[in-house]
Amino acid sequence: NVYPVILSGGSGTRLWPLSRKHYPKQFLKLTSDYTMVQETALRLKGLNNPIAVCNEAHRFIIAEQLNEIGQSPSAVILEPVARNTAPAIALAALKASELNENAVLVILAADHVINDTVGFQKAVEAAIKEAENDSLVTFGVVPEKPEAGFGYIQAQVEGQLSAIKRFVEKPDLETAKQYVESGDYYWNSGMFVFKAKSFLEELSEHDPDMYQTVKRAFEQASCDLDFTRIPKEEFALCPDNSIDYAVMEKTQKGMVLPISVGWNDVGSFSALWEVLNKDNNGNANLGDVKNIDSENCLVQSENQFVATIGVKDLVVIGTKDSILVAHKDRVQDVKKVVQYMSDTE
Ligand code: GDD
Ligand code: MG
Repeated sequence: NVYPVILSGGSGTRLWPLSRKHYPKQFLKLTSDYTMVQETALRLKGLNNPIAVCNEAHRFIIAEQLNEIGQSPSAVILEPVARNTAPAIALAALKASELNENAVLVILAADHVINDTVGFQKAVEAAIKEAENDSLVTFGVVPEKPEAGFGYIQAQVEGQLSAIKRFVEKPDLETAKQYVESGDYYWNSGMFVFKAKSFLEELSEHDPDMYQTVKRAFEQASCDLDFTRIPKEEFALCPDNSIDYAVMEKTQKGMVLPISVGWNDVGSFSALWEVLNKDNNGNANLGDVKNIDSENCLVQSENQFVATIGVKDLVVIGTKDSILVAHKDRVQDVKKVVQYMSDTE
């Protein structure tokens, strides 16, 4: 009765020009010979086949990528528009309840790297057990450094499965520093385990409007092949919110399970640089690249030769039609380029 749920609706704008609207980062081979979505699905083999939730435009890409690794999904839920993670998870919960009334969901983001798969699988088993008590379990990553891009979880008891004292979604960097120094905060991994029923109950209590709207949209869904198509008229009315704000910050049933499994969110080029193999000078290269007296750079080139000389901490990404040159400390702003291009379209 356990279903992995792969959330694959992000647009990955901070990884432009690798990640594109029609082919966002979760469908790219960024860190291995498998795409991020495939890595995610492979991590939890042995449970039921996954339920994927993605934008309608990506239906064939996701089906093909799962088939490539021999997994035919339990369902592919197609969103006509993105309404963030809370509605996406609610759709998966409604679908899973149809498949099995005692369904337990393992919610996975399609853009994470986990080095220790076995360690992660053990943690998932423990979380599944806890979810049987109606808890909403989140995995807390022991933080390595202050990061403003993550949610933080303060545990009631450190170092073990514990009730959540506080949940803070994306604090500013100063606050994040204090959290990391204090020692009793974890990064919210954005992965959750709960019964479909428990989640839907909490959602209907804390955001009844969203719950009702998603439910109406789901009831009008049409199914063909593996695809569950959600109608736009209803779903567009749904409030846009993440599971973190809509449910996790508010619920009394939150539990946090600490994990140390080499987890990382490949949310930006600096995060990508961190997870890739590097040469002795800290350069992570892909393609035809030569570094001379250069350090800690990320250089990827699809079809041209690229040389760097005497530079540090640079990101250089060349694709067929675009070149990005950015300082590694500024890669969060790549989304501004994407914004600029859509404004001038
Ligand atoms: N289907 C679907 N629909 N998936 C979505 C949608 C949507 O509308 N929006 C986001 N997702 C997927 C993304 O593809 C990604 O896999 C995952 O949900 C998380 O969304 P992000 O947009 O990447 O969230 P985030 O990284 O800013 O923040 C979340 O993850 C962090 C860890 O990676 C939060 O949960 C943070 O608290 C957490 O620290
Ligand atoms: Mg993310």
